[in-house]
Amino acid sequence: MSGPNTEYDPVAVTPLQADQVEAMRDQALAAIAAAEDLKALAQARSEHVGDRSPLALANREIGALPPQARKEVGQRVGQARGAVAQALAARTEVLEAEHEERTLLAETVDVTLPTRRHPAGSRHPITTLSDRIADIFVAMGWEIAEGPQVEAEWLNFDALNLGPDHPARTMQDTFWLEPADSALVLRTHTSPVQARTMLTREPPIYVACPGRVYRTDEVDATHSPVFHQVEGLVIDEGITMAHLKGTLDHLTTALFGEGITTRFRPSYFPFTEPSAEMDMVCFVCRGVDPEQCRTCRGEGWIELGGCGVVNPRVLVACGVDPDRYTGFAFGFGIDRILMFRHTVEDLRDVFEGDVRFTSAFGVEI
Ligand code: DAH
Repeated sequence: MSGPNTEYDPVAVTPLQADQVEAMRDQALAAIAAAEDLKALAQARSEHVGDRSPLALANREIGALPPQARKEVGQRVGQARGAVAQALAARTEVLEAEHEERTLLAETVDVTLPTRRHPAGSRHPITTLSDRIADIFVAMGWEIAEGPQVEAEWLNFDALNLGPDHPARTMQDTFWLEPADSALVLRTHTSPVQARTMLTREPPIYVACPGRVYRTDEVDATHSPVFHQVEGLVIDEGITMAHLKGTLDHLTTALFGEGITTRFRPSYFPFTEPSAEMDMVCFVCRGVDPEQCRTCRGEGWIELGGCGVVNPRVLVACGVDPDRYTGFAFGFGIDRILMFRHTVEDLRDVFEGDVRFTSAFGVEI
């Protein structure tokens, strides 16, 4: 049988003797002081402050002492642990500050150094303007159609009532593809997309066809062998020239603002009858006192392109019943519109591919 351990002499319990406790404390303090960085300090903490550290174990012994011994030993161990905890906190503060300083030094960024720039790209203004024009038609419920740039001679000419002896078929205007009997050309206008559309789908047809076209023009400030057009085609019952006029007025107003409408001048195109040249009110002088206007050069009007009521011969060639349907068509140059809209003086700037020209436009015009 064992009774309460009233005879327990703290001095006799080795780990609780004063010199032992002091030794544990001094070892702990020495380890903390010796820790050079936070990792070493964490190691010292677990060895000298952790649950299995000598001072923690000593602390646990106190409970087993007779009550009269507990106070003295408790104080001794408590003071030792307090001193260690204090030293640990102080050292932690010092090492954390050092660490932070070292990190700041290592991660210093010289904000005055030149950077390696990645200039933001920009779209070609012809692309952006084509999209903007296409959007105006899409907003009216039209579809966008595209055709190939290498086109069948028949679609580029014959289907559009451009007979074999039409001047536009001579070698001056058209890039013919080899071999000579391939009957292929680089399309000279976007009008063959009209024929393609009528041949592949049933009316009602409401399509706009933006695209690149080619002619054997010499390069100068206003000519290029490659340029861009937008074609429009409507085939439906009861379509008249009035619908054409309303559509074009809406287009120019949407592009250039309120009051910029169009006018027709009589003209001739084999694929429309009657045909017209379309002009729009000069968006700079608005036709008021045009003599001084450098944009329209005194005209008050800016020429856009050709249009008219689709020739029944074209309808027949493309399989549309001319007794039931009528339609209108138009085609105009995008490059000219770009030049007017943004005061581009030389068409070569549009095609030479210098990014200094393109980047001025960004991604929106
Ligand atoms: N294709 C003609 C050209 O390039 C422009 C044109 C005129 C298109 C009248 C049309 C039109 O659709 O009806 O000069």
